[in-house]
Amino acid sequence: MLTSAQIRQQFLDFFKSKEHQIVPSAPMVVKNDPTLMFINSGMAPFKEIFLGNQPAKYKRIADTQKCLRVSGKHNDLEEVGVDTYHHTMFEMLGNWSFGDYFKKEAIEWAWELLTSVYGLKKDRLYVTVFEGDPDGSGEKLDFDQEAYDYWKQWIAEDRILRGNKKDNFWEMGETGPCGPCSEIHYDLRSDEERRQQDGKDLVNASHPQVIEIWNNVFMQYNRKGDGTLEPLPQKHVDTGMGFERLCVALQGKTSNYDTDVFQPMIQFISSMCGVKYQGGSPLSLEEGLGVRTDIAMRVMADHIRAISFAIADGQLPSNNKAGYVIRRILRRAVRYAYSFLNFKEPILCRMVPLLADQFVNVFPELKAQQDFVARVIQEEETSFFRTLELGIKKFEAINEKIIPGDFAFELYDTFGFPIDLTQLMAREQHMQVDMEGFNKCMAEQKSRSRHAATVTTDDWIVVKDDDNSEFVGYDELETETEIVKYRKVKKGNKEQYQIVLSRTPFYAESG
Ligand code: SER
Repeated sequence: MLTSAQIRQQFLDFFKSKEHQIVPSAPMVVKNDPTLMFINSGMAPFKEIFLGNQPAKYKRIADTQKCLRVSGKHNDLEEVGVDTYHHTMFEMLGNWSFGDYFKKEAIEWAWELLTSVYGLKKDRLYVTVFEGDPDGSGEKLDFDQEAYDYWKQWIAEDRILRGNKKDNFWEMGETGPCGPCSEIHYDLRSDEERRQQDGKDLVNASHPQVIEIWNNVFMQYNRKGDGTLEPLPQKHVDTGMGFERLCVALQGKTSNYDTDVFQPMIQFISSMCGVKYQGGSPLSLEEGLGVRTDIAMRVMADHIRAISFAIADGQLPSNNKAGYVIRRILRRAVRYAYSFLNFKEPILCRMVPLLADQFVNVFPELKAQQDFVARVIQEEETSFFRTLELGIKKFEAINEKIIPGDFAFELYDTFGFPIDLTQLMAREQHMQVDMEGFNKCMAEQKSRSRHAATVTTDDWIVVKDDDNSEFVGYDELETETEIVKYRKVKKGNKEQYQIVLSRTPFYAESG
């Protein structure tokens, strides 16, 4: 069986043999593009080349790019861990033509690599082409006859499916380069299952074992800010193959987490908590505790990659924007570890060295900063642990079908629960969150902090679960007391702490 390292290398070697320059992954964190926080696809680092704003150093390149899909147009976070084939961070193998080859070669090489080099079974492969959108919003996009005709030289016509704009017209974001695409899907099911149901009917139907492995985009347009399409100065090829999914297909597994990409992490978690990972195909969240422990291990094994590489690429967890995305992912992992695997001490930080070693030859930036990254994660875990337990207790005390918005906001504001974490916990209990109420509280807080100008506040660190602060100032000017909660407040360059005391002689005034 090929290892994941060999699979990656064979991809790069194949395109090298087709005169592609092999380039390293760009950092996953995007610092200079207001439309994108993280690289969400292999093509994002080349956006300016596609748009014609930057010259291409090489006409053909190939790489493996670290990608993160947790915000904006491409956001897979909710599925991650619950199923076995979505990820926050994943590797996208790509080959690129900048104004050089187009559909003919892209299709021919994709087929050659998958069937002759990797030896994937032809009777398990399906491809899709864009069906066109002649009437759609005045864009008059045609059926991709050209791609169809090239495909039929290689694959039986009943395996070439027509896909709609959602699946077969790829756009990076609300604006930017885009074009029709041709996806390649693979059927991982057993022969028995394949006899019972034609794989064709399961393509793009969210079936965990009939999965898209490779997308070939034929970049021809730029989506402008006003929503219209304009032709690009040149035509390009952008392909993206999900590395982890390719490994599933080539290693004969049914879950990404059963491949050697994730197994070292899963085995480490399993040995630390003494719970066996069952593996295999997914079951739903509702199906009992055994499954939940698997989900928790998958969440941890996935999220540690996103968090570690984001920090190594320069994005620290924080309370806003890209930093908050990372903090949310981290807290989602901590909560799964805590609730389902009984981890009561920081554990994610201990996975960093393992991950760094695994990727030392592919993304050496993590190994180079391993201690720093682990320390940042440990601090984050420690500070969230303090409030997690209290927040969960409060949550469990709620006995309503709909979680009130102001309570969800309290969990967010005081206990540091990202709203999607509260929603997730609610879903697990067949409850819902009053999002309208939550958003209202959020808007009120934003307006309050706007008035407070440039003051930024960290999360409250709850030391003691005690909502009542006793005022003793009528009788005492000094008193013995304890800190109930505290938080850091920054105003300009100044840092201060706000504290709430259990007994206080200080009289609070407002106005
Ligand atoms: N940009 C396409 C995708 O992300 C192919 O790389 O699917």
